[in-house]
Amino acid sequence: MTERLAVRADLFDFPEDPGWQVEAPAAVRYLPDHWLLVEDGRIAGTRPGTEAPGPGWRCIDHRGRLLLPGFIDTHVHAPQLDVIASYGTELLEWLNTYTFPAECKYADPAEAERGSALFLDALLASGTTAAAVFPTVHKVSAEALFAAAAQRHMRVLAGKVLMDRHAPDGLRDDVAQAERDCVDLIERWHGRGRVAYAVTPRFAATSTREQLAMAGRLCAAYPDVYMQTHVAENRSEVRWMAELFPEARSYLDIYVRHGLMTPRSLFAHGIWLDDTDRAVLREAGASIAFCPSSNMFIGSGLFDWGRTEGQGVAVHLASDVGGGTSLSMLRTIADGYKVLALQGQKLTAWKALYTATHGAARHLRLSHEIGHLSPGTLADFVVWDWAQGPVARRRIEVARDLHERVFAWMTLGDERNVVSTWVAGQERYRRPE
Ligand code: GUN
Ligand code: ZN
Repeated sequence: MTERLAVRADLFDFPEDPGWQVEAPAAVRYLPDHWLLVEDGRIAGTRPGTEAPGPGWRCIDHRGRLLLPGFIDTHVHAPQLDVIASYGTELLEWLNTYTFPAECKYADPAEAERGSALFLDALLASGTTAAAVFPTVHKVSAEALFAAAAQRHMRVLAGKVLMDRHAPDGLRDDVAQAERDCVDLIERWHGRGRVAYAVTPRFAATSTREQLAMAGRLCAAYPDVYMQTHVAENRSEVRWMAELFPEARSYLDIYVRHGLMTPRSLFAHGIWLDDTDRAVLREAGASIAFCPSSNMFIGSGLFDWGRTEGQGVAVHLASDVGGGTSLSMLRTIADGYKVLALQGQKLTAWKALYTATHGAARHLRLSHEIGHLSPGTLADFVVWDWAQGPVARRRIEVARDLHERVFAWMTLGDERNVVSTWVAGQERYRRPE
């Protein structure tokens, strides 16, 4: 029997890229007080709130609340919940002092299972229903993450992290074993349910040339898997890469030389790239995950979204927890606004929310499945309170137009605004009463 669900709220999504303008009527679809209709886990349509669906529909009334597609976090580290909010270091010291020791624990399957469940439930509680995730170097950590994602029916891209040098004992693999593990994981998990494999060299410094080449061979052998890594995040890191790979024109060029520049390549950060790098990214159809919270917290620098997109490179938004300090994409966006403001750029609510939903889905080539509320897509959505607490309530109340209202929601909100999170039509998180 068909399962029918109807949720009443202010529906909000973004059919098109709104550009950088506040005036973008075709890009913004706002349906105040409407029913979202869901059949067998897929969106079936919408109708005005006054026209309740008949018998046979499970109706949930969230009148006065906001309903958006689930957010897509395009770069985040599952095991780093244990090091989120760690004091006083930049990237390379942060990795050695906090992150690598914490990731060693994921050799233990029980720990990987516990951590994956905590992590995915925390994403859902933050209003994020899809993510590109780094587990650890351990095969069991990828297995545990995939299994936890499958259990929740979540759209997760991930892969065993590749790192065979410049990391402590217990956190390195080797080329031959890593290749066997990746092939096995791809064969068993890629395309199973909503899980996709991403070849995941941590960054060029922790892989030998041989390992990067192996990763490139995997991308060629399995052209529909993703590739995710870090690039040009921190100035000391960039200098170190130049020492490690003197033959490369730039940090990004290391990845190009090893076959890791594909249309499905997701590069986190990209703060210290040059115009040639950006042309390479554009030509390949690869994209950059902008991680503003992380970039400020570990002092990496200010990402120039305007210039990057102006040169034709796709940009999406990511928390990069544990370098970032919140899994909430609203907080991530609020930080992104500030990073752009420091460079004289303005991030509209439309651009930010489009990027964290439909835009990300497009860059991940998943817009047939997620990112908007169009019929036929899977019903991954989140019900939000417009405001939590008297300050936000007042600000929302006095807003003079929709952009002002949504901008205030987006800037003042966080996971406390999440009322419930739905994945393929199933409620996977509900805020405690
Ligand atoms: N570069 C290499 N590894 C990492 C990581 O775990 N986090 C961040 N932010 N950058 C990295
Ligand atoms: Zn990262």
